[in-house]
Amino acid sequence: AVRSGLDHLRAARQGGYAIAAFNAVNLETAQAIVAAAEATRSPVILQISHNAARHGGLAALAALGLSLKRAASVPIILHLDHAETPEVALEALHLGFEGVMLEGDDPATLRPLAAASHAQGGYLEAEYEVVVKGERRGERHDDPATLGQFAQDSHCDLLAVDLGSAHKQEDKTARLDFARLQALAAATPLPLVLHGASSVPEDELAHAAALGVAKVNLATDLTLAFTGAVRDSLSGGAKDPRTYLAAGRSAMQVRAEHYLRVLGSAGRA
Ligand code: G3H
Ligand code: ZN
Repeated sequence: AVRSGLDHLRAARQGGYAIAAFNAVNLETAQAIVAAAEATRSPVILQISHNAARHGGLAALAALGLSLKRAASVPIILHLDHAETPEVALEALHLGFEGVMLEGDDPATLRPLAAASHAQGGYLEAEYEVVVKGERRGERHDDPATLGQFAQDSHCDLLAVDLGSAHKQEDKTARLDFARLQALAAATPLPLVLHGASSVPEDELAHAAALGVAKVNLATDLTLAFTGAVRDSLSGGAKDPRTYLAAGRSAMQVRAEHYLRVLGSAGRA
């Protein structure tokens, strides 16, 4: 039977591992993600952010993601990351995205989007707490037990929580609050989501996956690998975009494969 993206995420939460959600911005980054999933026999989330859609066009990137997904030998879950409006999230669902994340925590805005996702077998990720663009936009909730009520009120399927990570950090100096994670995981059986995972040491990511984080968003680490390899290729005199973009793609694939093993999804496809 074909399992939905949400089935995979629920299995991850139950099984104490996490599905990696890697960001694609173009053909080569999307290919790197799919190749890494195939090489490690992992399910993976190929996510395209609202920002990336501003760069590449949502419809064009959706077509790219869907065509790679159709040809792949492992489950590829196409996800819209950091939607800033419900409209763009609805457009993504219409284009064939399976899951969407809407920034914000207003249940009245989230509920109709959850309904639209569920109507086509998809899922909604919402922010119980936010860590956006390197700085905290909202506040942590004093009582982690209110997470259960938020899940019920918003009808969402995945919950982004603040465990101490930050977006777009180039070093791994964030430290996760595991006591808090345990309290949050006790408050809901839903898969929890960690954003800004590039800021977190790998052993802490593995530990978080064991405790209930079932979706781990990783972008910056892989971007640095891609761009570093492109820079080296250009310094070496490469002129054809296929040459330096292939170098970036290979380097990104190596990092992605590594994370798929760290998070425990390797071999689960
Ligand atoms: O939504 C995307 C992620 O939260 C990526 O964060 O670039 O810090 O790995 P990162
Ligand atoms: Zn994020």
